[in-house]
Amino acid sequence: MVYAVIMAGGSGTRFWPKSTKKLPKQFLSLFGEGTMIQNTVHRIEELIPQERTLVITNDNYTDIVKEQLPGVPDQNIVGEPVAKNTAPCVAIAAQMLHKKDPEAVMVVLPADHHITNPEAFNEILKSAIEKAKSGKNLVTIGINPDRPETGYGYIHADDALKESYNGHEVHPVKAFKEKPDLETAKEFVASGDYFWNSGMFIWSADTILQEFEAHLPKMYEQVQESRSGLYEENHEEAINTFYHACESVSIDYGIMEDAKEVFVVPGEFGWNDVGSWTAAYELADKTKDGHVVNADQATFSESKNVYVSSDSGKMISVVGLEDVAVVETDDAILVCKLDKAQNVKDIVQQLKDKE
Ligand code: GDD
Ligand code: MG
Repeated sequence: MVYAVIMAGGSGTRFWPKSTKKLPKQFLSLFGEGTMIQNTVHRIEELIPQERTLVITNDNYTDIVKEQLPGVPDQNIVGEPVAKNTAPCVAIAAQMLHKKDPEAVMVVLPADHHITNPEAFNEILKSAIEKAKSGKNLVTIGINPDRPETGYGYIHADDALKESYNGHEVHPVKAFKEKPDLETAKEFVASGDYFWNSGMFIWSADTILQEFEAHLPKMYEQVQESRSGLYEENHEEAINTFYHACESVSIDYGIMEDAKEVFVVPGEFGWNDVGSWTAAYELADKTKDGHVVNADQATFSESKNVYVSSDSGKMISVVGLEDVAVVETDDAILVCKLDKAQNVKDIVQQLKDKE
């Protein structure tokens, strides 16, 4: 059986002040209908129903997940007592699924990405699932890079050895490089041989557990220890013990950079990981002056390309500004040049330091 594993424990700091520790980005509705996690689950529902969807999030967010995704059974929602990045999240999900179904195939998805063409995305997923079922394969989905972004992983695809699954190319991966420096990222993009890692992974639970044994042996042992408690009376205790013991590392650094049997399915489906207010601006519908208005009322004079977001109902007025975001919440107001939107995380850090 094929299962979805939604990674939803991130803190989404670059969307401050709308995204907060209490309600991070994945639980917000940044583009019209549905929150990001609802859209993530619903867009694959025909392929993987909610009964076979697991959501791994922080303890603080399990109630929000239950409220936003009432179709996901409670026992499929895991609350982490501490955030330990994505490798532990994949390990515990693999262990849970493997206990339930030794043949389980997992489609691991971030909870906070935007996809404009869900049909094309589902077709790519089908190919990736076929490849994952056909052997001990770790399958990624690659995106054609259009800039030397340093916040992504890069996948060096072997063009010569490609095969076809369900009408899509599947390439073996020569190397996986997580978050290179700018110079390296520029070389990768210029070479034309690299894809961005979309952050989605398809593999069987059995295969990924073997990869943990090979590359993160301590975490493998710790997650094995949790096995007997999972889905039993001491389910929560087994999960808590695992999380308190394990190290904090991402699946990309912990497994993908070292793994051997990695494959990539390149896909064009309007992928955007909505990494900042700039991305939110770019994806939204605009007025003829290039404004995005997510507020009850807004007025502009001699302004262009302004992103406005407000929940308060107050009138937001902007005079003589271009390429800025103005975001108002009950607690804070952000005014930010759109090309500096990455720096919002510095503000969050400053606020944290003050706490
Ligand atoms: N359960 C859980 N626990 N989920 C987490 C945790 C955690 O401690 N930390 C992050 N997540 C979730 C986030 O909510 C997000 O949905 C997903 O895991 C990925 O985490 P990010 O922190 O957003 O990763 P990233 O964007 O830096 O990098 C990843 O995604 C890029 C594409 O967007 C990597 O896979 C890169 O290689 C990739 O290019
Ligand atoms: Mg991300």
